[in-house]
Amino acid sequence: MKGFRRQKEQGAPQHAESHKEQADLEKKDAQPADGELSGKSTTVSRRELLKLAGVGGLGLLLGGGVGAVLSAGQRLESMVTEADTQDVVPFYGKHQAGIVTPAQDFICFAAFDLTTSDKEQVRSLFKAWTEASAAMTSGTLIGTDNENLNLPPSDTGEAAGLSPSRTTITFGVGPSFFDGRYGLAGFKPAGFRELPRFQGDALEEQWCGGDIGVQVCANDLQVAFHALRNLARIARGTAVLRWTQEGFQRTAQADPAGSTPRNLLGFKDGTGNPDTSKADEMKRLVWTQSSDGPAWMGNGSYMAVRRVRMRIEVWDRSTLGDQEDTFGRHRSSGAPLGKAKEFDKLDLTATSPEGKPLTPPTSHVALAHGDGSINILRRSYSYSSGLDKQTGQLDAGLLFISYQRDLFKQFVHIQEKLARNDKLNEYIVHKGSAVFACFPGVSQGGYIGDTLL
Ligand code: HEM
Repeated sequence: MKGFRRQKEQGAPQHAESHKEQADLEKKDAQPADGELSGKSTTVSRRELLKLAGVGGLGLLLGGGVGAVLSAGQRLESMVTEADTQDVVPFYGKHQAGIVTPAQDFICFAAFDLTTSDKEQVRSLFKAWTEASAAMTSGTLIGTDNENLNLPPSDTGEAAGLSPSRTTITFGVGPSFFDGRYGLAGFKPAGFRELPRFQGDALEEQWCGGDIGVQVCANDLQVAFHALRNLARIARGTAVLRWTQEGFQRTAQADPAGSTPRNLLGFKDGTGNPDTSKADEMKRLVWTQSSDGPAWMGNGSYMAVRRVRMRIEVWDRSTLGDQEDTFGRHRSSGAPLGKAKEFDKLDLTATSPEGKPLTPPTSHVALAHGDGSINILRRSYSYSSGLDKQTGQLDAGLLFISYQRDLFKQFVHIQEKLARNDKLNEYIVHKGSAVFACFPGVSQGGYIGDTLL
Protein backbone atom coordinates (compact mmCIF):
# COMPACT_ATOMS: atom_id res chain seq x y z
CA MET A 1 0.00 0.00 0.00
CA LYS A 2 1.16 3.54 -0.61
CA GLY A 3 1.83 6.50 1.66
CA PHE A 4 0.40 9.95 1.08
CA ARG A 5 2.12 13.30 0.66
CA ARG A 6 1.51 15.91 3.33
CA GLN A 7 3.14 18.86 5.01
CA LYS A 8 6.67 18.28 6.35
CA GLU A 9 6.92 17.01 9.91
CA GLN A 10 9.73 17.28 12.43
CA GLY A 11 12.42 14.66 11.95
CA ALA A 12 10.71 13.24 8.88
CA PRO A 13 13.52 12.14 6.56
CA GLN A 14 14.93 8.67 6.98
CA HIS A 15 18.60 7.89 7.14
CA ALA A 16 20.31 4.74 6.04
CA GLU A 17 23.58 4.59 7.99
CA SER A 18 25.39 2.32 5.64
CA HIS A 19 25.22 0.84 2.20
CA LYS A 20 24.19 -2.47 3.71
CA GLU A 21 21.40 -0.81 5.61
CA GLN A 22 20.33 1.04 2.49
CA ALA A 23 20.48 -2.14 0.41
CA ASP A 24 18.57 -4.01 3.11
CA LEU A 25 15.98 -1.29 3.24
CA GLU A 26 15.68 -1.23 -0.51
CA LYS A 27 15.42 -4.99 -0.70
CA LYS A 28 12.74 -4.90 1.95
CA ASP A 29 10.96 -2.14 0.06
CA ALA A 30 10.99 -4.20 -3.11
CA GLN A 31 8.93 -6.91 -1.43
CA PRO A 32 5.33 -6.37 -0.40
CA ALA A 33 5.25 -6.24 3.41
CA ASP A 34 3.61 -9.02 5.34
CA GLY A 35 -0.01 -8.19 5.89
CA GLU A 36 0.07 -5.50 3.21
CA LEU A 37 -3.43 -4.52 2.31
CA SER A 38 -3.06 -4.70 -1.41
CA GLY A 39 -0.67 -5.12 -4.28
CA LYS A 40 -0.05 -2.30 -6.69
CA SER A 41 -2.98 -3.30 -8.79
CA THR A 42 -5.53 -2.84 -6.03
CA THR A 43 -4.23 0.13 -4.07
CA VAL A 44 -6.53 1.49 -1.39
CA SER A 45 -6.45 5.29 -1.31
CA ARG A 46 -6.40 7.34 1.85
CA ARG A 47 -9.94 8.52 1.10
CA GLU A 48 -11.09 4.92 0.71
CA LEU A 49 -9.46 4.04 4.02
CA LEU A 50 -11.21 6.89 5.76
CA LYS A 51 -14.53 5.80 4.28
CA LEU A 52 -13.87 2.24 5.43
CA ALA A 53 -12.89 3.46 8.88
CA GLY A 54 -16.13 5.42 9.03
CA VAL A 55 -18.27 2.39 8.32
CA GLY A 56 -16.20 0.05 10.45
CA GLY A 57 -14.70 -1.67 7.45
CA LEU A 58 -11.13 -1.00 8.49
CA GLY A 59 -11.26 -3.63 11.20
CA LEU A 60 -12.20 -6.10 8.51
CA LEU A 61 -9.28 -5.05 6.35
CA LEU A 62 -6.84 -5.22 9.24
CA GLY A 63 -8.00 -8.52 10.58
CA GLY A 64 -9.06 -9.32 14.14
CA GLY A 65 -5.90 -9.15 16.32
CA VAL A 66 -4.74 -5.56 16.00
CA GLY A 67 -8.21 -4.31 15.26
CA ALA A 68 -9.44 -5.48 18.64
CA VAL A 69 -7.00 -3.23 20.52
CA LEU A 70 -6.76 -0.04 18.47
CA SER A 71 -9.41 2.49 17.54
CA ALA A 72 -10.12 2.98 13.84
CA GLY A 73 -8.35 6.36 13.88
CA GLN A 74 -5.23 4.92 15.53
CA ARG A 75 -5.22 2.03 13.12
CA LEU A 76 -5.46 4.37 10.14
CA GLU A 77 -2.57 6.54 11.36
CA SER A 78 -0.28 3.58 12.01
CA MET A 79 -1.11 2.14 8.62
CA VAL A 80 -0.40 5.37 6.82
CA THR A 81 2.93 5.75 8.65
CA GLU A 82 3.90 2.21 7.78
CA ALA A 83 2.77 2.76 4.21
CA ASP A 84 5.01 5.82 3.92
CA THR A 85 8.11 3.77 4.71
CA GLN A 86 7.12 0.98 2.31
CA ASP A 87 6.96 3.42 -0.56
CA VAL A 88 10.10 5.41 0.25
CA VAL A 89 13.63 4.84 -0.95
CA PRO A 90 15.88 6.54 1.62
CA PHE A 91 17.48 9.70 0.23
CA TYR A 92 20.37 9.80 2.69
CA GLY A 93 23.01 7.08 2.78
CA LYS A 94 26.50 6.01 1.84
CA HIS A 95 25.66 5.92 -1.86
CA GLN A 96 23.12 7.96 -3.80
CA ALA A 97 19.82 6.20 -4.34
CA GLY A 98 18.75 5.55 -7.94
CA ILE A 99 21.85 3.60 -8.93
CA VAL A 100 21.55 0.08 -7.50
CA THR A 101 17.90 0.78 -6.63
CA PRO A 102 15.69 -1.54 -8.71
CA ALA A 103 14.52 0.59 -11.63
CA GLN A 104 11.20 2.33 -10.99
CA ASP A 105 8.53 2.63 -13.68
CA PHE A 106 9.31 6.15 -14.94
CA ILE A 107 12.19 8.52 -15.41
CA CYS A 108 12.43 12.28 -15.85
CA PHE A 109 16.00 13.02 -16.78
CA ALA A 110 17.45 16.52 -17.01
CA ALA A 111 20.76 18.13 -17.80
CA PHE A 112 21.27 21.63 -16.39
CA ASP A 113 23.74 24.38 -17.26
CA LEU A 114 24.89 26.75 -14.55
CA THR A 115 24.43 30.42 -15.31
CA THR A 116 26.42 31.72 -12.34
CA SER A 117 30.17 32.02 -11.98
CA ASP A 118 29.93 32.25 -8.20
CA LYS A 119 30.84 28.99 -6.45
CA GLU A 120 28.93 30.08 -3.34
CA GLN A 121 25.72 30.19 -5.39
CA VAL A 122 26.40 26.69 -6.70
CA ARG A 123 26.84 25.47 -3.13
CA SER A 124 23.56 27.17 -2.10
CA LEU A 125 21.79 25.52 -5.02
CA PHE A 126 22.98 22.05 -3.99
CA LYS A 127 21.93 22.75 -0.40
CA ALA A 128 18.46 23.83 -1.49
CA TRP A 129 18.22 20.83 -3.83
CA THR A 130 19.22 18.52 -0.96
CA GLU A 131 16.48 19.83 1.30
CA ALA A 132 13.87 19.67 -1.46
CA SER A 133 14.97 16.19 -2.55
CA ALA A 134 14.82 14.81 1.00
CA ALA A 135 11.28 16.18 1.28
CA MET A 136 10.10 15.00 -2.14
CA THR A 137 11.52 11.49 -1.82
CA SER A 138 9.91 11.06 1.58
CA GLY A 139 6.57 12.32 0.32
CA THR A 140 6.31 15.65 2.10
CA LEU A 141 5.63 19.03 0.53
CA ILE A 142 8.68 21.24 -0.01
CA GLY A 143 9.12 24.09 2.49
CA THR A 144 6.64 25.48 4.96
CA ASP A 145 4.92 28.25 2.98
CA ASN A 146 2.17 26.24 1.46
CA GLU A 147 -0.84 27.82 3.14
CA ASN A 148 0.02 31.54 3.00
CA LEU A 149 -2.36 33.37 0.65
CA ASN A 150 0.13 36.20 0.25
CA LEU A 151 3.03 34.11 -1.03
CA PRO A 152 3.63 31.76 -3.94
CA PRO A 153 3.51 28.28 -2.35
CA SER A 154 6.93 26.73 -1.72
CA ASP A 155 5.78 23.48 -3.37
CA THR A 156 4.10 23.58 -6.79
CA GLY A 157 1.46 21.19 -5.47
CA GLU A 158 0.76 18.71 -8.24
CA ALA A 159 2.03 15.81 -6.12
CA ALA A 160 -0.04 16.76 -3.07
CA GLY A 161 -1.90 13.69 -1.84
CA LEU A 162 0.26 11.36 -3.93
CA SER A 163 2.47 8.71 -2.41
CA PRO A 164 6.29 9.02 -2.43
CA SER A 165 6.21 6.40 -5.23
CA ARG A 166 9.77 5.23 -4.46
CA THR A 167 11.16 8.44 -5.90
CA THR A 168 14.93 8.66 -6.22
CA ILE A 169 16.88 11.73 -7.32
CA THR A 170 20.46 11.16 -8.41
CA PHE A 171 22.89 14.01 -9.06
CA GLY A 172 26.13 14.23 -11.01
CA VAL A 173 28.36 16.83 -12.62
CA GLY A 174 29.61 16.86 -16.21
CA PRO A 175 33.12 17.61 -17.46
CA SER A 176 32.17 21.26 -18.13
CA PHE A 177 31.60 21.75 -14.38
CA PHE A 178 35.39 21.67 -14.02
CA ASP A 179 36.17 24.26 -16.70
CA GLY A 180 37.63 26.71 -14.20
CA ARG A 181 34.55 28.87 -13.45
CA TYR A 182 34.51 27.70 -9.84
CA GLY A 183 38.20 27.11 -9.18
CA LEU A 184 37.61 23.34 -9.31
CA ALA A 185 39.65 22.43 -12.39
CA GLY A 186 42.17 20.64 -10.18
CA PHE A 187 39.45 18.37 -8.81
CA LYS A 188 38.39 16.97 -12.16
CA PRO A 189 38.80 13.19 -12.16
CA ALA A 190 41.73 12.19 -14.38
CA GLY A 191 40.56 11.61 -17.95
CA PHE A 192 36.98 12.68 -17.22
CA ARG A 193 35.65 14.19 -20.46
CA GLU A 194 32.73 13.91 -22.86
CA LEU A 195 32.64 10.55 -24.64
CA PRO A 196 34.70 10.20 -27.81
CA ARG A 197 32.85 10.18 -31.11
CA PHE A 198 31.93 6.58 -31.91
CA GLN A 199 31.51 5.21 -35.41
CA GLY A 200 27.95 5.87 -36.62
CA ASP A 201 27.15 8.53 -34.02
CA ALA A 202 24.66 11.14 -35.26
CA LEU A 203 24.71 13.30 -32.16
CA GLU A 204 22.59 16.44 -32.01
CA GLU A 205 23.68 19.27 -29.74
CA GLN A 206 20.18 19.50 -28.25
CA TRP A 207 20.61 16.09 -26.58
CA CYS A 208 24.19 16.40 -25.40
CA GLY A 209 26.24 17.46 -22.40
CA GLY A 210 25.36 19.50 -19.33
CA ASP A 211 27.10 20.94 -16.26
CA ILE A 212 24.83 18.91 -13.98
CA GLY A 213 22.82 15.74 -14.63
CA VAL A 214 19.75 14.84 -12.58
CA GLN A 215 18.03 11.48 -12.85
CA VAL A 216 14.59 11.43 -11.23
CA CYS A 217 12.89 8.03 -11.13
CA ALA A 218 9.54 7.14 -9.56
CA ASN A 219 6.70 4.69 -9.90
CA ASP A 220 4.41 7.55 -10.93
CA LEU A 221 5.11 9.96 -13.79
CA GLN A 222 3.35 12.90 -12.18
CA VAL A 223 5.39 12.44 -9.00
CA ALA A 224 8.62 12.24 -11.04
CA PHE A 225 7.69 15.29 -13.10
CA HIS A 226 6.84 17.22 -9.94
CA ALA A 227 10.30 16.52 -8.54
CA LEU A 228 12.13 17.62 -11.64
CA ARG A 229 9.97 20.68 -12.10
CA ASN A 230 10.60 21.81 -8.53
CA LEU A 231 14.34 21.31 -8.89
CA ALA A 232 14.25 23.49 -12.02
CA ARG A 233 12.15 26.08 -10.20
CA ILE A 234 14.57 26.20 -7.28
CA ALA A 235 17.48 26.58 -9.72
CA ARG A 236 16.07 29.70 -11.35
CA GLY A 237 18.74 32.41 -11.43
CA THR A 238 21.55 29.87 -10.91
CA ALA A 239 21.00 27.14 -13.50
CA VAL A 240 18.81 26.51 -16.54
CA LEU A 241 17.59 23.32 -18.14
CA ARG A 242 19.72 22.25 -21.08
CA TRP A 243 17.81 19.15 -22.17
CA THR A 244 15.29 16.75 -20.69
CA GLN A 245 13.92 13.34 -21.56
CA GLU A 246 11.10 11.38 -20.03
CA GLY A 247 11.05 7.61 -20.21
CA PHE A 248 9.09 4.59 -19.12
CA GLN A 249 9.20 0.87 -18.50
CA ARG A 250 6.25 -1.46 -17.98
CA THR A 251 4.55 -0.65 -14.68
CA ALA A 252 4.28 -3.05 -11.75
CA GLN A 253 0.54 -2.99 -12.37
CA ALA A 254 1.05 -4.48 -15.84
CA ASP A 255 3.73 -6.89 -14.62
CA PRO A 256 3.21 -7.73 -10.94
CA ALA A 257 5.87 -10.47 -11.20
CA GLY A 258 8.48 -7.79 -11.94
CA SER A 259 10.13 -9.72 -14.74
CA THR A 260 12.88 -8.17 -16.85
CA PRO A 261 11.39 -5.25 -18.80
CA ARG A 262 11.27 -5.34 -22.58
CA ASN A 263 12.61 -2.52 -24.74
CA LEU A 264 10.69 -1.14 -27.73
CA LEU A 265 12.25 -3.74 -30.01
CA GLY A 266 10.40 -6.36 -27.97
CA PHE A 267 13.39 -7.97 -26.22
CA LYS A 268 14.02 -8.38 -22.51
CA ASP A 269 16.58 -5.77 -21.57
CA GLY A 270 18.66 -6.10 -18.40
CA THR A 271 19.17 -9.87 -18.16
CA GLY A 272 22.96 -9.68 -18.28
CA ASN A 273 23.21 -6.96 -15.64
CA PRO A 274 25.47 -7.67 -12.67
CA ASP A 275 23.72 -8.73 -9.47
CA THR A 276 23.13 -5.58 -7.41
CA SER A 277 22.71 -7.59 -4.21
CA LYS A 278 26.37 -8.63 -4.39
CA ALA A 279 28.26 -5.87 -2.61
CA ASP A 280 31.63 -7.09 -3.95
CA GLU A 281 30.41 -6.96 -7.54
CA MET A 282 29.05 -3.45 -7.04
CA LYS A 283 32.37 -2.40 -5.54
CA ARG A 284 34.22 -3.85 -8.50
CA LEU A 285 31.93 -2.55 -11.24
CA VAL A 286 29.83 0.38 -10.01
CA TRP A 287 31.19 2.27 -7.00
CA THR A 288 34.22 4.47 -7.48
CA GLN A 289 36.72 3.80 -4.71
CA SER A 290 38.59 6.63 -2.96
CA SER A 291 41.81 4.97 -4.08
CA ASP A 292 40.70 5.40 -7.72
CA GLY A 293 40.91 9.16 -7.13
CA PRO A 294 39.89 11.86 -6.72
CA ALA A 295 38.94 11.36 -3.06
CA TRP A 296 35.64 13.26 -3.39
CA MET A 297 34.33 10.58 -5.80
CA GLY A 298 34.79 7.72 -3.29
CA ASN A 299 31.45 5.80 -3.14
CA GLY A 300 30.21 7.72 -6.18
CA SER A 301 29.75 6.35 -9.70
CA TYR A 302 30.06 7.52 -13.30
CA MET A 303 26.88 7.77 -15.34
CA ALA A 304 26.82 7.41 -19.14
CA VAL A 305 23.66 8.61 -20.90
CA ARG A 306 22.93 7.96 -24.56
CA ARG A 307 19.71 8.92 -26.29
CA VAL A 308 19.41 6.11 -28.82
CA ARG A 309 16.75 6.46 -31.47
CA MET A 310 15.32 3.19 -32.80
CA ARG A 311 14.42 2.72 -36.44
CA ILE A 312 11.27 1.01 -35.35
CA GLU A 313 9.67 0.87 -38.77
CA VAL A 314 12.68 -0.95 -40.26
CA TRP A 315 12.86 -3.36 -37.31
CA ASP A 316 9.19 -4.19 -37.66
CA ARG A 317 9.83 -5.48 -41.19
CA SER A 318 12.70 -7.77 -40.18
CA THR A 319 12.08 -11.46 -39.55
CA LEU A 320 12.04 -12.98 -36.09
CA GLY A 321 15.13 -14.99 -37.04
CA ASP A 322 17.00 -11.80 -37.96
CA GLN A 323 15.83 -10.10 -34.79
CA GLU A 324 17.07 -12.94 -32.60
CA ASP A 325 20.40 -13.09 -34.45
CA THR A 326 20.73 -9.34 -33.96
CA PHE A 327 20.56 -9.56 -30.19
CA GLY A 328 21.85 -13.12 -29.74
CA ARG A 329 18.88 -14.02 -27.57
CA HIS A 330 15.44 -15.51 -28.06
CA ARG A 331 12.74 -12.88 -28.13
CA SER A 332 10.09 -14.68 -26.17
CA SER A 333 12.10 -16.14 -23.27
CA GLY A 334 15.15 -13.85 -23.35
CA ALA A 335 17.31 -17.01 -23.25
CA PRO A 336 20.66 -17.17 -25.06
CA LEU A 337 20.24 -18.69 -28.54
CA GLY A 338 19.92 -22.46 -28.28
CA LYS A 339 18.99 -22.28 -24.59
CA ALA A 340 15.57 -22.42 -22.95
CA LYS A 341 15.62 -20.10 -19.97
CA GLU A 342 16.33 -16.40 -19.64
CA PHE A 343 19.13 -16.78 -17.12
CA ASP A 344 20.80 -19.81 -18.72
CA LYS A 345 24.50 -19.17 -19.10
CA LEU A 346 25.61 -17.38 -22.24
CA ASP A 347 28.11 -19.68 -23.96
CA LEU A 348 29.69 -17.94 -26.92
CA THR A 349 31.64 -21.07 -27.88
CA ALA A 350 28.52 -23.20 -28.42
CA THR A 351 28.10 -24.28 -32.05
CA SER A 352 25.40 -25.84 -34.22
CA PRO A 353 25.87 -29.40 -35.61
CA GLU A 354 27.23 -27.72 -38.75
CA GLY A 355 29.87 -26.01 -36.64
CA LYS A 356 28.42 -22.47 -36.80
CA PRO A 357 28.40 -20.38 -33.60
CA LEU A 358 24.93 -20.44 -32.04
CA THR A 359 25.35 -16.80 -31.06
CA PRO A 360 26.50 -14.76 -34.07
CA PRO A 361 29.83 -13.07 -33.21
CA THR A 362 28.45 -9.71 -34.37
CA SER A 363 25.28 -10.00 -32.31
CA HIS A 364 24.72 -7.38 -29.62
CA VAL A 365 25.28 -9.72 -26.68
CA ALA A 366 28.33 -11.44 -28.15
CA LEU A 367 30.07 -8.09 -28.57
CA ALA A 368 28.81 -6.53 -25.35
CA HIS A 369 29.65 -9.62 -23.30
CA GLY A 370 33.13 -10.23 -24.73
CA ASP A 371 35.00 -12.49 -22.33
CA GLY A 372 32.61 -11.51 -19.55
CA SER A 373 35.18 -9.69 -17.44
CA ILE A 374 33.95 -6.17 -18.17
CA ASN A 375 30.39 -5.22 -17.39
CA ILE A 376 28.31 -2.15 -16.51
CA LEU A 377 25.07 -1.61 -14.61
CA ARG A 378 22.41 -0.66 -17.16
CA ARG A 379 19.38 1.28 -15.95
CA SER A 380 17.74 2.34 -19.21
CA TYR A 381 14.22 3.49 -20.05
CA SER A 382 12.22 3.49 -23.27
CA TYR A 383 11.20 6.86 -24.62
CA SER A 384 8.61 8.02 -27.09
CA SER A 385 8.73 11.68 -28.00
CA GLY A 386 6.12 12.13 -30.69
CA LEU A 387 6.84 12.36 -34.39
CA ASP A 388 10.01 13.20 -36.20
CA LYS A 389 8.48 15.91 -38.42
CA GLN A 390 11.14 15.42 -41.11
CA THR A 391 10.50 11.72 -41.68
CA GLY A 392 7.00 11.27 -40.31
CA GLN A 393 8.32 8.41 -38.18
CA LEU A 394 8.12 7.91 -34.43
CA ASP A 395 10.89 9.50 -32.42
CA ALA A 396 11.18 6.56 -30.05
CA GLY A 397 14.00 4.53 -28.62
CA LEU A 398 16.06 3.94 -25.54
CA LEU A 399 17.31 6.45 -23.02
CA PHE A 400 20.32 4.29 -22.31
CA ILE A 401 21.81 4.90 -18.87
CA SER A 402 24.61 2.95 -17.32
CA TYR A 403 26.61 3.29 -14.14
CA GLN A 404 30.20 2.22 -13.87
CA ARG A 405 33.25 2.68 -11.72
CA ASP A 406 35.37 3.72 -14.69
CA LEU A 407 33.83 5.28 -17.81
CA PHE A 408 36.62 4.47 -20.21
CA LYS A 409 37.62 1.00 -19.04
CA GLN A 410 33.99 -0.10 -19.01
CA PHE A 411 31.45 1.90 -21.05
CA VAL A 412 33.83 3.16 -23.75
CA HIS A 413 35.52 -0.23 -24.05
CA ILE A 414 32.16 -1.90 -24.77
CA GLN A 415 30.69 0.86 -26.93
CA GLU A 416 33.75 0.95 -29.21
CA LYS A 417 33.15 -2.70 -30.07
CA LEU A 418 29.42 -2.18 -30.52
CA ALA A 419 29.84 0.93 -32.68
CA ARG A 420 32.14 -0.90 -35.08
CA ASN A 421 30.37 -4.24 -35.55
CA ASP A 422 27.02 -4.58 -33.75
CA LYS A 423 24.29 -6.02 -35.99
CA LEU A 424 21.93 -3.81 -33.98
CA ASN A 425 23.41 -0.69 -35.61
CA GLU A 426 21.17 -1.24 -38.63
CA TYR A 427 18.21 -0.43 -36.39
CA ILE A 428 19.48 2.25 -34.01
CA VAL A 429 21.24 5.59 -34.12
CA HIS A 430 22.82 7.43 -31.20
CA LYS A 431 21.44 11.00 -31.07
CA GLY A 432 22.43 12.18 -27.61
CA SER A 433 25.33 11.73 -25.23
CA ALA A 434 26.36 12.92 -21.79
CA VAL A 435 28.48 11.77 -18.87
CA PHE A 436 28.23 12.73 -15.23
CA ALA A 437 30.38 12.08 -12.19
CA CYS A 438 27.77 11.16 -9.58
CA PHE A 439 28.62 12.16 -6.07
CA PRO A 440 28.72 9.74 -3.15
CA GLY A 441 25.62 9.63 -0.97
CA VAL A 442 24.72 12.42 1.44
CA SER A 443 24.64 12.14 5.24
CA GLN A 444 21.99 13.88 7.33
CA GLY A 445 23.11 17.47 7.81
CA GLY A 446 25.28 17.33 4.69
CA TYR A 447 24.39 18.32 1.14
CA ILE A 448 24.75 16.89 -2.35
CA GLY A 449 28.28 17.47 -3.59
CA ASP A 450 29.67 18.43 -0.18
CA THR A 451 32.72 16.20 -0.70
CA LEU A 452 33.64 18.41 -3.69
CA LEU A 453 32.31 21.87 -2.82
C1 HEM B 1 19.12 1.01 -28.28
C2 HEM B 1 20.24 0.53 -27.78
C3 HEM B 1 20.36 -0.79 -27.08
C4 HEM B 1 19.44 -1.80 -26.99
C5 HEM B 1 18.04 -1.87 -27.59
C6 HEM B 1 20.04 -2.83 -26.20
C7 HEM B 1 19.45 -4.03 -25.88
C8 HEM B 1 20.06 -5.08 -25.23
C9 HEM B 1 19.48 -6.37 -25.03
C10 HEM B 1 18.10 -6.80 -25.50
C11 HEM B 1 20.38 -7.13 -24.38
C12 HEM B 1 20.23 -8.61 -24.00
C13 HEM B 1 19.60 -8.79 -22.66
C14 HEM B 1 20.38 -8.23 -21.55
O1 HEM B 1 21.42 -8.75 -21.13
O2 HEM B 1 19.99 -7.16 -21.07
C15 HEM B 1 21.52 -6.30 -24.11
C16 HEM B 1 22.65 -6.68 -23.44
C17 HEM B 1 23.71 -5.86 -23.15
N1 HEM B 1 23.89 -4.60 -23.64
FE1 HEM B 1 22.63 -3.54 -24.77
N2 HEM B 1 21.29 -2.43 -25.81
C18 HEM B 1 21.51 -1.18 -26.34
C19 HEM B 1 22.64 -0.42 -26.21
C20 HEM B 1 23.73 -0.76 -25.45
C21 HEM B 1 24.87 0.08 -25.21
C22 HEM B 1 25.07 1.49 -25.76
C23 HEM B 1 25.70 -0.62 -24.39
C24 HEM B 1 27.03 -0.21 -23.80
C25 HEM B 1 27.96 0.46 -24.42
C26 HEM B 1 25.09 -1.90 -24.13
C27 HEM B 1 25.62 -2.88 -23.34
C28 HEM B 1 25.05 -4.11 -23.09
C29 HEM B 1 25.64 -5.11 -22.22
C30 HEM B 1 26.92 -4.96 -21.40
C31 HEM B 1 24.80 -6.21 -22.27
C32 HEM B 1 24.96 -7.53 -21.50
C33 HEM B 1 25.80 -8.50 -22.26
C34 HEM B 1 26.00 -9.76 -21.44
O3 HEM B 1 25.16 -10.67 -21.51
O4 HEM B 1 26.99 -9.81 -20.73
N3 HEM B 1 23.89 -1.95 -24.79
N4 HEM B 1 21.31 -5.05 -24.65
